[in-house]
Amino acid sequence: MLIYGTVVHTPKRGTISIHTNALLATNEEGRIVALKDNIPEDKLDSTIDTLQVGHQRQSLLKLSATQFILPGLIDTHIHAPQITYTGTATDIPLMDWLQKYTFPSERQFEDPAWARKVYDVLVRRLLCNGTTTALYFASIHLEASKILADSALKHGQRAFIGKVCMDQNGAEGYIETTEQSIEDTKAFIAYCQSKQRPQHLVPVITPRFLPTCSPALLEQLGALARQHDLPIQSHISESLDEVAFVHALYGNEDTDTEIFDRMGLLTQRSVMAHGVHLSPNDVDTMVARGSAVAVCPLSNVYFANGVFPVQPYQKLKMGLGTDVAGGYSPSMLQSIRHCAVASRYLATQKDHDPSLVVDWMTALYMATLGGAEALGLQDEVGSFELNKSLDALLVDIATDNSPIDLLDDITPMDMVEKFINLGDDRNIISVWISGERKL
Ligand code: GUN
Ligand code: ZN
Repeated sequence: MLIYGTVVHTPKRGTISIHTNALLATNEEGRIVALKDNIPEDKLDSTIDTLQVGHQRQSLLKLSATQFILPGLIDTHIHAPQITYTGTATDIPLMDWLQKYTFPSERQFEDPAWARKVYDVLVRRLLCNGTTTALYFASIHLEASKILADSALKHGQRAFIGKVCMDQNGAEGYIETTEQSIEDTKAFIAYCQSKQRPQHLVPVITPRFLPTCSPALLEQLGALARQHDLPIQSHISESLDEVAFVHALYGNEDTDTEIFDRMGLLTQRSVMAHGVHLSPNDVDTMVARGSAVAVCPLSNVYFANGVFPVQPYQKLKMGLGTDVAGGYSPSMLQSIRHCAVASRYLATQKDHDPSLVVDWMTALYMATLGGAEALGLQDEVGSFELNKSLDALLVDIATDNSPIDLLDDITPMDMVEKFINLGDDRNIISVWISGERKL
């Protein structure tokens, strides 16, 4: 593939690289073999020859002045079955919300036909919104988790998927035994590995959170993660009611981080959601283990009783998550915006401390290369360095129906910022994963 036009990415946290009149070329595996900018239109032909990509000339895509290429967005925390009720159930705290809305709704995924219908819609919805990689929680059901894997493979989305594990404090009809949880997790790992798409479908060890997992289950899941060298995901120090529940359950003041660490569940492949109530000590432990936090700014507003302090914890690996349906929007653009907005409330609360502010470029980094680092994909996707896979969006801020009005001349930088702050799926006109067009 050959693309000529404006190419935008965040190869370093807090900065943005805007390559104009750029030529981006991929090979037949969808890997980037050239990115060269400032090529005048009349030198395009000779540059194509110099870069030895002339055989691809017939597939040259020339972007218009209102278009640019951006890395695919990476959602590091989303609950696949919860797409059914997202946009509702915004009225009560986490521990009550799980019992009233989540567990009854997730229970329905015991029906494979329901899972097939929902997961087809879900993956398409995420792709339309530019999510090229997602770290999913499925439900406790083996069959439905396989169906989510099938849907991601069918649509070509990169998917890290966990069959959810919970052997205590679930609900009527939505709980499993420790043995069943381990057995189904092993079967799900085998299923994903049988597909032989290790860069596109990855099974994830998924203890839901400490309240719903016995120590025996946590230990065995830690052992499975070690044995198969797999990623791990859970929720960590999310909200005041969750933290209080764990203290009551364990009869002491141990933090979530200390407990997960004891169970072997904090590794360099762990992605733990929220972390709003992590202590500085907990953060040091996570940094030492190489674990990541999936920052979920929108659901934190509803459940967490606080804002995750992104800027003070720059030493942590951090991605962004939508946390559907705790966060009601499946769009990572909303996560980017809410991350920036929440940081400003935090700064206001702390005597207007400007060092707490997350700018849009940093939030975009977290939604792309930051997410890739959380998932160990930093050499594969997240930006446009040579030899990476081309996971990318073609954005046009002037489509029919665009939510962005262009009334004056605009610089490429302003064009990108307008898309980040005002754009939506109407502006995402193509999506590529591994150099293949998926939308
Ligand atoms: N903690 C345990 N389960 C969940 C969930 O489904 N959503 C959120 N936001 N937090 C959780
Ligand atoms: Zn969650």
